[in-house]
Amino acid sequence: MKQLQVGLEDRAYPILIREGLLSEVGEELKLRKIAKRYIIIADDHVAELFGGQLVESLRKVNIPVDLLTFPRGEASKNLTTIGRLISALAQLGVDRQDALIALGGGVTGDITGFAAAIYMRGIPFVQVPTTLLAQVDSSVGGKTGVDIPEGKNLVGCFYQPQAVFIDTLVLGQLPREELLNGLAEVVKYGVINDLDFFNFLLSNQKDILALEPAIVEAVIAHCCTIKARVVEADEREADLRRILNYGHTLGHAVEAASNFTIPHGMAISMGMVAVNTIAMGKGLLAAEKAQRIKDALQGFGLPVAIPPELDRCQMTELLKSDKKSVGGRPFFVLPIQIGKVIISDEVDDALIARAFG
Ligand SMILES: NC(=O)c1ccc[n+]([C@@H]2O[C@H](COP(=O)([O-])OP(=O)(O)OC[C@H]3O[C@@H](n4cnc5c(N)ncnc54)[C@H](O)[C@@H]3O)[C@@H](O)[C@H]2O)c1
Repeated sequence: MKQLQVGLEDRAYPILIREGLLSEVGEELKLRKIAKRYIIIADDHVAELFGGQLVESLRKVNIPVDLLTFPRGEASKNLTTIGRLISALAQLGVDRQDALIALGGGVTGDITGFAAAIYMRGIPFVQVPTTLLAQVDSSVGGKTGVDIPEGKNLVGCFYQPQAVFIDTLVLGQLPREELLNGLAEVVKYGVINDLDFFNFLLSNQKDILALEPAIVEAVIAHCCTIKARVVEADEREADLRRILNYGHTLGHAVEAASNFTIPHGMAISMGMVAVNTIAMGKGLLAAEKAQRIKDALQGFGLPVAIPPELDRCQMTELLKSDKKSVGGRPFFVLPIQIGKVIISDEVDDALIARAFG
C-alpha cells in the first residue's frame, strides 16, 4: 500500500493506492470524517462493474449512500449531464454536510468534481478513479469541467478533491485501448521529469502490460508523486504545470483532425514523437534520445506515426486555435534530455510541418 499527500495548504489531500481498496473505501471515509452521507456518481458501465462493491463498502460501516449514473463516454461530459445530476442531488436533499464520490474514469471525475464545485456553492468530493488515465493523471490536481459544442473542457474550474482512493485491481477489467491511453501519460511523466523512472518503465514493460500488482502500484504512485509535486508548485497552470502538456499540443490537433476517431492516448503518443522532431530541429534533443522515447512508446504498443490521411493544413489551423494558444501562438513542451523539458512558443511553420510528417 502506498500513501502520498498533495500538499496544497488548506486544500491538501491524501492519495491512497492499494490492491483491493475499493472494498475498504467505506472504512477510510469513516476514519477521515469527510461527510455524513455520500452520493456516488458513475457512468452506467462502471456502475455495473463496481457500483455494488463501493455501495456495500459504505453500507457495511453504516454510512448512508446513493448512486447516480449517466451514460458512459465523452459525449456525456456536458452541461446537460451536470444539470441532470445537480437536480438529482437537490431531489435527494443533499446538503453541505454530504459529499460526492467520483467512481470511474476521467469523464466521471471531471463531471463529478464540477458538480461538487457548483452545487450549493461547493460540497466536498472524493475521487475513486478506475481507468489508468484517471489513476495517474485526471484524479489528481483538481481540474474539473465539461465540454461545450465550441470546444473540449471549455467550462470548468479548479476544485480539489478531499481524497483519492486508487484500487489497482479494477484495471484488470479495463479494455486494452483504455490501458494504452493511460500508458501514454505514464511515459510522458518519465520524459518530462525523471530519467530513472523512464528507465524503470523500459525495464518493466512486460510486467506493466501484464498488470503485475507490485509494479503497477509503483508506477501509479510514481506518476501521482510527479503530478502532485507539479500541482503543488503551480496549481492553476500559470507556468510549471504546462509541462504536463508534453505531446498534447500536437496530439490534440491529431485527435481533433481525426474527428476523435483516434483515441486520446494514441494521439498523445504520436504528439510526443512529433514534438520530439521539433526539439531535434531546434538542436535541443539528441536523435538517440528521441529514438529511445519512440522505442518506449512502441514497446507498450502505442502508435508513433501520424496517419498520412489526416489533413496537415487542418492540424496546423487547429494548433493555432487550441484553447491553450496565446494570440494564435501554440506553445510546445520540448524535451532537452529524457527527464527534462523546456517550454517554447518559438517554432516556425516549416518545423511544425516537418513534425506532422
Ligand atoms: N482533470 C484532468 O486533469 C484531466 C486530465 C486528463 C484527462 N482528463 C479528461 O479525462 C477524460 C478521459 O478519461 P478516461 O480516458 O478515463 O475516459 P472515461 O472516463 O470515458 O473511461 C473510459 C471508458 O472506460 C470505462 N471504464 C472505466 N473504468 C473501467 C474499468 N476499471 N474497467 C472497465 N471499463 C472501465 C468507462 O465506462 C468508459 O467507457 C477526458 O474527458 C479528458 O478531458 C482530465
